Amino acid sequence: MQNLYIKTYGCQMNEYDAERMADVLAVSHGLRLVDDPALADVLLLNTCSIREKAEDKVFTQLGFWRPFKEKRPEVVIGVGGCVASQEGERLRRRAPYVDLVFGPQTLHRLPDLLDACLAERRPQVDIAFPMLEKFDRLPQRPGRDGATAFVTVQEGCDKFCTFCVVPHTRGREYSRAMPDIVREVRVLVNQGVSEVTLLGQNVNAYRGATGLVGEGDLADLLERLARIPGLLRLRYTTSHPGNLDERLIAAHGNIEILAPHLHLPVQSGSDRILRRMHRKHTVEQYLDKIARLRAARPDIRISSDFIVGFPGETDADFAATMALIDMVGFDQSFSFKYSQRPNTPALRLKDGVPEAVKDARLTMLQERINGLAREYARALVGTRQAVLVTGPSRRDPRELTGKTACNRSVNMAGSMDWIGQMLEVEIVAALPNSLRGRVAHSTAVSQRLAI
Ligand code: 5AD
Ligand code: SF4
Repeated sequence: MQNLYIKTYGCQMNEYDAERMADVLAVSHGLRLVDDPALADVLLLNTCSIREKAEDKVFTQLGFWRPFKEKRPEVVIGVGGCVASQEGERLRRRAPYVDLVFGPQTLHRLPDLLDACLAERRPQVDIAFPMLEKFDRLPQRPGRDGATAFVTVQEGCDKFCTFCVVPHTRGREYSRAMPDIVREVRVLVNQGVSEVTLLGQNVNAYRGATGLVGEGDLADLLERLARIPGLLRLRYTTSHPGNLDERLIAAHGNIEILAPHLHLPVQSGSDRILRRMHRKHTVEQYLDKIARLRAARPDIRISSDFIVGFPGETDADFAATMALIDMVGFDQSFSFKYSQRPNTPALRLKDGVPEAVKDARLTMLQERINGLAREYARALVGTRQAVLVTGPSRRDPRELTGKTACNRSVNMAGSMDWIGQMLEVEIVAALPNSLRGRVAHSTAVSQRLAI
């Protein structure tokens, strides 16, 4: 047994989890990742159930893998992530050839599950929620580009928005201890990482120490991390407006290396729909927080998630969402058609929106957001931006690629020695998916570049 193949769906936290799976199995069983599933001895599917058809996608994928096992019965097939958490034993009933079922909180137990499966020659299912254990037992490592890394600091969600499966699949809110995170980020920086993104389903609900507001909260954690020499940029995602308090808003003004970009999902611009979604805030409260963020950090860019066609959404409700988009001037965002999820309260809402209406609203909304993102990209042309050089460009490996503070890709000519540095770059063109830049100064600059 030597080759491992992992297919992952869904959010950044899942990508992070997939890397962790590869890490633990490399250490425990000497498995190495391969690109071709036909060559793998262990095949893992890391699933996501946030939106519809997740289960169907899983079984279709497993169907593709089944012949590998028929040919070589010793092949091990595992399913992890949120669909595994949601379906548990049921998953094996529909796909009996699956050997391992593990949830987002039990991936660190993979080596034991694999051993048990091989020794006992029977399938293993472990979808418990032992949060503490997972974080204590997982090694961290830089992202693929070496200059950036994700660090999960919080998991789970207590908000129970009526459309969302996350509280059911990832469990209750849980935060890691601050000293562990600080230690880990230090190690990453020593390995050459310049930018760290803190991850959590509700990352701004982070309460690392006593659980009291203001004591070991996300503002404290950011401040603490910002003091690590060599760390050039910090981000965090994803946030709930309800947890964006005064301290965190102030942190955006005070912490220089905190990127002036915030993903703050609003979902809808209609108070009536927000109430039905159980989002626990109004449009006015959301706008008020944005205004205060902008007062603290005038160059901050805001992005959001939107759901169109939530049950009961009228033309007027949707118009309110479009009006909010114009008011805020959102940056590149994510938008989805509402889909029913198992065990969620919104299932009981009867006034569903027809699919064709959802399609039309989604197209309108995405066109508006894309228009705003293009406008912003064009406005960047001629300005100087602090760009973190992350590696050679994918299209032309003789060139460099990097990221602006608000996460736009910039390609430019330059020396490979600059990888990992923050440079002052003049934006010379806005292309559909990236920016073109020219390095203005090849000495490192700070993020708060005077433009
Ligand atoms: N239908 C559509 N979109 C959803 N999201 C979560 N649940 C659903 C659902 N049932 C979206 C929300 C959330 C993002 C991660 O996924 O916009 O912020
Ligand atoms: Fe889901 Fe709402 Fe929690 Fe976000 S805040 S994970 S949308 S329940």
